[in-house]
Amino acid sequence: MLFTDCPILAKDVFYHFFNSTLLLVSFLCKIIFTGKIKPSVNNFYCSAFIGNNQYTMITKIKESVAYIQKKYNTVPSVGIVLGSGLGSFTAEMKVEIEIDYDDIPHFPVSTVEGHHGKLIFGELGGKKVVAMAGRFHYYEGYTPEEVVFPIRVMKFLGITTILISNAAGGMNAGFKVGDLMVIKDHISLFTVNPLLGKNAEELGPRFPDMSEPYSKNLIAKVKAIAAAKNIDLKEGVYCGVTGPTFETRSEYKLLHIVGGDAVGMSTVQEVIAAVHMGLAVFGLSVITDLGIRKEENKITHAEVLQAAKEAEPKLTYLFKELIAGL
Ligand code: HPA
Repeated sequence: MLFTDCPILAKDVFYHFFNSTLLLVSFLCKIIFTGKIKPSVNNFYCSAFIGNNQYTMITKIKESVAYIQKKYNTVPSVGIVLGSGLGSFTAEMKVEIEIDYDDIPHFPVSTVEGHHGKLIFGELGGKKVVAMAGRFHYYEGYTPEEVVFPIRVMKFLGITTILISNAAGGMNAGFKVGDLMVIKDHISLFTVNPLLGKNAEELGPRFPDMSEPYSKNLIAKVKAIAAAKNIDLKEGVYCGVTGPTFETRSEYKLLHIVGGDAVGMSTVQEVIAAVHMGLAVFGLSVITDLGIRKEENKITHAEVLQAAKEAEPKLTYLFKELIAGL
């Protein structure tokens, strides 16, 4: 049978061709006219596409930096990333300017309760700092590249050190809710590496060394600060997972067996991007719940936020003193 003998098939083929062309054209228009692709759901195809478009990524970083520098022309030396429920930390800062993420070109926008969504510039411990009030999580649907975008912008703004905090579930039997854990290492195998795709040599090497992602020098300084003030400090390995579910009992057990002391849904992607760019990193987890726990214990986001809030003064003190001693 000839193709033209079958009008229904011909019509279907035409519609299919028409629809695909329309889709392709609208996709290309979006890239050309907005300069960005904002996937509403995480999508590996999209992620890989952006990951390989390094020219666009570096351009975006530079455009964000140019916008910020027009508003604030002082070079910060330290970047701070605040975890869930830790947003009021910035009350300690002598704030000079706050810039909403929404206003910065190419910045993703934060959506989670407890995350404020702005860059705060000012002074802490006698140093110029920039704090991220609110961060971007993979579980919100951002690509790994979007998650680490602000870290790259802060590096291009001039920071040389970054302090990262998070809320985490404790798996080490010696931990209790409210403890602070210095991150001495991490396991990132349960989430997606933000450096996948073509490497941007302007940022760092293709195969970054990860033998000391968390600066031993900064860890030693914080331990000394804590000891002098009688602050109990735990130390351990942070396991990064995608979330958004908290772990099952078996998952907490597994993560502990493979070497994790605490688990959380942030940090590792940011740290990888920071190490890639040669930043000195310090990481601190607030233990907000216990993974290895009694039968009836359920974990809620509200309880995580509450525990983080209670531990915040200690964390603030340590960060402030660390910055002062840099
Ligand atoms: N698991 C994962 N992420 C978390 C947890 C947890 O138990 N607590 C706070 N963030």
